[in-house]
Amino acid sequence: MDDATLMRLPKAELHLHIEGTLEPEMAFTLAHRNGVTLPYADVDELRRAHAFTDLPDFLDLYYACMAVLRTEEDFADLASAYLRTAATQGVRHAEIFFDPQAHTSRGVPLSAVITGLRRGLDAASAGTGTHAELIACLLRDRPVAEAHATLDALEPYVGTVIGVGLDSAEVGYPPGQFAEVFTRAREAGLHVVAHAGEEGPPSYIWEALDVLGVERVDHGIRCMEDTALVRRLAADRTPLTACPLSNVRLRAVDDLREHPLPAMLEAGLMVTLNSDDPAYFGGYVADTYREVRDALGIDDATLIGLARNSFRASFIDDQRAQALLAAVDDPR
Ligand code: HPA
Ligand code: ZN
Repeated sequence: MDDATLMRLPKAELHLHIEGTLEPEMAFTLAHRNGVTLPYADVDELRRAHAFTDLPDFLDLYYACMAVLRTEEDFADLASAYLRTAATQGVRHAEIFFDPQAHTSRGVPLSAVITGLRRGLDAASAGTGTHAELIACLLRDRPVAEAHATLDALEPYVGTVIGVGLDSAEVGYPPGQFAEVFTRAREAGLHVVAHAGEEGPPSYIWEALDVLGVERVDHGIRCMEDTALVRRLAADRTPLTACPLSNVRLRAVDDLREHPLPAMLEAGLMVTLNSDDPAYFGGYVADTYREVRDALGIDDATLIGLARNSFRASFIDDQRAQALLAAVDDPR
C-alpha cells in the first residue's frame, strides 16, 4: 500500500497518552506562557534527550516536561493539536489516555485538566470529524490509596471520562494491587484497560485479565512467552494495543525488524497498532503503520485487517463502528 493510501486508511487510535503528544516546540511555548523553566536549554537539546534506555528512563523526562501544563487552556491546546495531527493520519476515532495524578500532584485542578482536554477535543472534532473519548490512567507506581482518591475525584466526570486505565513504571508494580479500585471503576460504569506485558512478565497480563477484568490489554507483547496465555487471549479475542515504535525506543524490542507483531497475528491475536507517546517515540499512528510495513513486510490485507481491528477493539457504539468499518473498505 502506498504512503498516501496508508495515511488515508481510516483508523482508531486506542493507546495514546495525551501528555506524550507534547512536542518540544509546544513544551517551550507553554513554558514561556506559564513562566516555567524546563531543564533543557532549547528545543534541540530536549530533542537530543529523547534517547531512552528503558521505560523508567523515559518516564523521568515525560513527567519533567509535564511541568509546563498548568491551565485549562494548556490542556485544550495540547488536545486540539493532537487531534488535528491524528486526523491527517487517518484517525477517525481516538480513545485518549491522560494521567490525572501527574497533574493534581503538581497542584493543577482535575477540573482544569478534564475541561481543557474536552474543550480542545471538541474544537478539533468540529473541524476534522474525528471523534475522541477520554480514559483516565491511574499511576501504578503511586499508592493504591491515591488511586482510590483519584477515582473518587473522577466520579463527577463519568461519561466525559469513559474508562480507567493503569500506566507508569510497570516492573515491580503488579496489576493485582489495584483489584478493588478496578472493581469500583467497573461498578461506576467505566470501561477498564491496563498496561501489562510491556516490560513486565506474562503474569501481569494474567492478573490484568483475571483480577482487574480488563477489556483490553495495553501493549501485552510479552504474552508471546506464555502459550497458555496466547491461547486465552486469542480465544477471547481480547484486544492488545501494540505500540511498536514505543517498544523500540524503550528497548523492549531491539529492532523493529524483530518485533513480535507478525507472530502475534499468526497466533490469532486481536492486535491494534498505536503510537503511545508520539512526540517522544518518533511517529504518529500512520507513521507507525508505515514503519511496520517497511520493517516487517506487512502486506495490504494485513494492514487493512489491523485498521479493522482498531474499530472492533474500540468502545464506540456498534452503529458508528459499522460505518467506520465500511469506510476502511472504501477510503476516500
Ligand atoms: N508505559 C507506561 N506508562 C506510560 C507510557 C508507557 O509506554 N507512556 C506514558 N505513560
Ligand atoms: Zn502507554
